[in-house]
Amino acid sequence: MTNDIQSVLFSQEDLEKIVSRLGAQITEDYKGKNLLLVSILKGSIAIMSDLMRHIDLPCRIDFMAVSSYGSGINSSGNVKIIKDLDISLEGYDLLIVEDILDSGRTLNSLMEILSTRKPRSIEICTLFDKPERREADVYAKYIGAEVPDAFIVGYGLDYDEKYRNLPYVGVLKPEIYENK
Ligand code: IMP
Ligand code: MG
Repeated sequence: MTNDIQSVLFSQEDLEKIVSRLGAQITEDYKGKNLLLVSILKGSIAIMSDLMRHIDLPCRIDFMAVSSYGSGINSSGNVKIIKDLDISLEGYDLLIVEDILDSGRTLNSLMEILSTRKPRSIEICTLFDKPERREADVYAKYIGAEVPDAFIVGYGLDYDEKYRNLPYVGVLKPEIYENK
């Protein structure tokens, strides 16, 4: 499997540092608030699992699965809810936890859908941001790291549902997804 990786961008140690910094920031900002972490399946499971243990506050968690009808390595903006939240958002300070902000279409549509449900506040925490690829207007208050315009996998991020279990994040060799 590691033969499919061109270069390692973030080691396990790097990821641990990034996530603990995000956790400390969130802990500081959400004191006295009614924090609800919402993990967007499946890409954010690794960051969600580590991040929540770096948040030193009472909080709740929930999960949502969306499909953006993308093919290959691109998403479309047509977000369809595959698995909805189990609880109503009213009165919660909602923090969406996502793996990567790319074109921004997925999070843009999701923000529209979730803000109609009257949470007290709504913000985004994304592990990675690819600003060069942005097409839709999205503001993420918490960003783990900026990444270049390359397709990356590992620590939750997939290509064709594979590589999520890599403990590090690396650039996928283009020949894996080219000619598909
Ligand atoms: P967006 O709607 O273009 O911002 O796409 C966001 C979604 O596309 C993320 O939640 C990921 O599932 C996927 N994605 C975008 N870039 C990458 C990448 O480099 N590696 C793995 N998945 C990616
Ligand atoms: Mg994905």
